Amino acid sequence: MECRTVGAAALEVGAVGLGCMPMSWAYSTSRQDGEESLRAVHTALDRGTTLLDTADMYGPFTNELLLGRVLKERRADAFVSTKCGLLVGEQHIVANGRPGYVKRACDASLRRLQTDVIDLYQLHRVDPEVPIEETWGALAELVAAGKVRALGLCAVGARGSRSRGRRRGGLHAETLRHLARAQQVFPVSCVEAELSVWAPEALDELLPWCTARGVGFLAAMPLGNGFLTGTLTPGGGFEPDDLRARHPRFTAEMMAANQPIVAGLRRVAERHGATPAQVALAWTLAQAPSVVPVPGAKTARWTAENAGAAALRLTDADLAEIAELPPAQGSWD
Ligand SMILES: NC(=O)c1ccc[n+]([C@@H]2O[C@H](COP(=O)([O-])OP(=O)(O)OC[C@H]3O[C@@H](n4cnc5c(N)ncnc54)[C@H](OP(=O)(O)O)[C@@H]3O)[C@@H](O)[C@H]2O)c1
Repeated sequence: MECRTVGAAALEVGAVGLGCMPMSWAYSTSRQDGEESLRAVHTALDRGTTLLDTADMYGPFTNELLLGRVLKERRADAFVSTKCGLLVGEQHIVANGRPGYVKRACDASLRRLQTDVIDLYQLHRVDPEVPIEETWGALAELVAAGKVRALGLCAVGARGSRSRGRRRGGLHAETLRHLARAQQVFPVSCVEAELSVWAPEALDELLPWCTARGVGFLAAMPLGNGFLTGTLTPGGGFEPDDLRARHPRFTAEMMAANQPIVAGLRRVAERHGATPAQVALAWTLAQAPSVVPVPGAKTARWTAENAGAAALRLTDADLAEIAELPPAQGSWD
């Protein structure tokens, strides 16, 4: 698989990563199956995917434990990206960026992952109660201690903070302010943010900011939470604990309204003998040489298919056709 580099530290990874979240969190929990998840990770590694994206809150904790079982045998084949800074409670998820906490969280992640170093340690959310300089300083100490090789910041929460009407500027304005402050303390190697055909907002300011500074970019939710793969049927319904069951873009009406996007990806896919999922991933790869998509999947079938997207080169005509697709309908929250 083609390799890409993550940030100033120039860490090499396979161009298509693996988002491990669905194995333990968020989607169709009745279909979560530890043995199939292990096969999915091994298959991804066999196909040249190296970046495994997890977080302590996925499960919580069980996703890291699962990956630990793979890393115990295949640490050299993998690039481990995990995250701290979000605590899962009974009813709420809260940010915690206190220095003492992030250091303890790192030690706990290292134990669960059965490794002595995390390649990319990401702050999952900025804690509004703690100046980012303090959190980032603690994370930098983890690099100095050799527990972590590089630091990243997640910007996936940007949509939520915008919709609560607390912030000014574009979708990522607050993230950009945090990034600038964090950079004063210690280099940011990577940003993880949503980027997909139906959620391209990161192309406006965030990806250009990263590109200008040699900061890597992990494209989260590159398959539009599964929608862009064309395998979800409008009105097909979701299990009650699947986050799409309450997501305004996944009502039967909105899924039907957004079918022209899937149809467009399918047209391009047919020309290449590929699948809509592979076209959706190749589209993210085409946005900048620094982009590494982390498609979420919990089966070996999907991780093999998604790894195959690294070999798909979209032409200028393909990209122009995708750019002409109608923008997605439906709010996010
Ligand atoms: N930093 C953050 O705050 C944050 C937030 C969200 C996500 N992320 C990261 O981004 C990763 C990706 O996001 P995501 O998992 O939410 O969304 P996604 O990658 O856009 O979509 C995942 C969904 O697509 C399905 N799928 C995967 N490959 C497929 C294929 N080839 N054909 C058909 N369906 C396929 C999966 O099905 P199955 O479930 O059946 O396998 C899963 O339901 C996560 O795993 C996580 O690592 C980070």
